[in-house]
Amino acid sequence: MVATIPLKAYDRLPATALAGKTVIDTMNYYPDRDGHLAELDAGTLTSSALVQRHLVGSHVVKAFNNIDFHRLFTLARPSGAPDRAALPIAGDDEAAKARVARLLDILGYDAVDIGTLADSWRSEPGTPVYVQPYFPAQRPEGTSQEEAYRWFLDTPGVPVPAGRVKELADTAVRA
Ligand SMILES: NC(=O)c1ccc[n+]([C@@H]2O[C@H](COP(=O)([O-])OP(=O)(O)OC[C@H]3O[C@@H](n4cnc5c(N)ncnc54)[C@H](OP(=O)(O)O)[C@@H]3O)[C@@H](O)[C@H]2O)c1
Repeated sequence: MVATIPLKAYDRLPATALAGKTVIDTMNYYPDRDGHLAELDAGTLTSSALVQRHLVGSHVVKAFNNIDFHRLFTLARPSGAPDRAALPIAGDDEAAKARVARLLDILGYDAVDIGTLADSWRSEPGTPVYVQPYFPAQRPEGTSQEEAYRWFLDTPGVPVPAGRVKELADTAVRA
């Protein structure tokens, strides 16, 4: 099961129906969109730990949150391809993480285990591994909305390998 909605609606995820299941959490916390959540603002909880607290009987694994939907599609490569990219995963249940790593493999990515849900801030917005490494350059300035979207669609992704994903996650500093 993949939970991929604006984080503000996390408490609408059906905890009873999802009990016992592995739930992939792709969600990110953007206060401008999601409103302010005190524990996330204070840094006492990661957004995925918040989701896990709600989905009390599920095995939540954070994945896919640090790559935009277009690069997720265009960067997928078969196992062993020299230009295969990797994505971080985080979770408290080792078996669930292994299942998600297998899914990533099928979908065209290596998985890099960055730890527990408490550690998952290392791939949250604003961290070094978040979105930007999979882009070759900064978005050009002074372009129209339409040109910017064209650039977004035409820009090929950068295949960030597993070692680099690990390095970037390790160098993250919590705000
Ligand atoms: N888009 C990306 O490239 C990307 C990349 C990485 C991570 N993420 C994260 O993944 C999550 C989903 O992103 P998205 O771009 O797919 O978002 P989205 O298009 O705004 O929302 C996805 C779906 O969530 C449902 N939804 C929206 N508001 C809801 C609400 N108040 N209550 C219940 N369901 C609601 C809607 O489903 P229905 O249409 O069926 O109602 C909507 O189609 C976000 O947390 C985002 O930060 C996105």
